[in-house]
Amino acid sequence: MARGHVDHRDIVKFAEDKVNLPRDTANEYRAQARRLRERLEAYLDEHPDFTLRRMLLSGSLAKGTALRSINDIDLGCYISGSNAPRNTRELLDYLAERLRKAFPNFSADQVVAQTYSVTVSFRGSGLDVDVVPILYDGDPQWYGNLVSQEDGSFVKTSIPLHLEFTKKRKDAQKVHFAQVVRLVKFWARRQKAERSGFRFKSFMIEMILAKLCDQGLDLSDYPEALQHFFTYIARSGLREMIVFADYYEPRTVPSYVQPVRIIDPVNAQNNVSRLYTQAEAAMIVEAAIDAGDAIDAALFAPTKYETVAYWQRAFGNAFQV
Ligand SMILES: Nc1ncnc2c1ncn2[C@@H]1O[C@H](COP(=O)(O)OP(=O)(O)OP(=O)(O)O)[C@@H](O)[C@H]1O
Ligand SMILES: [Mg+2]
Repeated sequence: MARGHVDHRDIVKFAEDKVNLPRDTANEYRAQARRLRERLEAYLDEHPDFTLRRMLLSGSLAKGTALRSINDIDLGCYISGSNAPRNTRELLDYLAERLRKAFPNFSADQVVAQTYSVTVSFRGSGLDVDVVPILYDGDPQWYGNLVSQEDGSFVKTSIPLHLEFTKKRKDAQKVHFAQVVRLVKFWARRQKAERSGFRFKSFMIEMILAKLCDQGLDLSDYPEALQHFFTYIARSGLREMIVFADYYEPRTVPSYVQPVRIIDPVNAQNNVSRLYTQAEAAMIVEAAIDAGDAIDAALFAPTKYETVAYWQRAFGNAFQV
């Protein structure tokens, strides 16, 4: 591959400057989440029967895969008790009301039930915290019914096991796994802005990369890793089922009728991509083919100007070397 104009190191630099959430900022946001969690724990010490059992950082801040463009902090909140509503709308109002109780120094307008989560806003600095309810009945591995942020339905899953799953891949390819996840998420964000109707959930991107890694893909060279990812999507057409053996036997996965089948690594019964239509899958495949072609062309372009222009087809004008 001709790498004279844009090489692995240039992608590293681009990621540091434009893609990644800076470490200090990530730590501030994690501290903000920790303070809320500790406040809940203090309240629980005084009120042991309180039904909000635990709050924990979920999502990209917990996994170290957040983008610079992050706009909220995801916290999962475990709710137990027979009087917790089983209906999403009522559960969100219930959660907001309980959070106001546990955090009396927040005014009512700082704790607001949204469609599928409750937002806690801080005065002044900090990001909003998005609290997502999880109905919980004491499972030791923290399985519970999480309110889906896509359609408000309940999905059985375990956030701590997801974090453990991701940590295993991050440990297997230190720095690179999380970095390639962030680069692909950045690409997807841009596609979303450019192609109407495009969507590609971060968790799906992460699972596809985890599968490629498990199959032996070395992510340490970013142009090549990205090219592999896009080639995989183009070749498979997103029609291959993606399933992992960490927490269940893959043969126990039921047959799914949905066009995209990326199965929750901690629950064989949960297809994480169940809401993706054939047309949406086709749009991802088309975008991946374009990105793959652009990177191919970049690697053989004769001038630096052309090389950068090809990389910009994948990453937008933010890409400069
Ligand atoms: N359909 C689902 N089934 C089970 N768990 C899910 C599902 N969707 C999301 N999750 C959980 O929520 C977490 C956040 O998912 P999401 O797709 O928002 O990714 P993210 O890593 O937070 O990325 P982003 O930076 O885009 O917010 C996942 O890590 C997973 O634990
Ligand atoms: Mg998130």
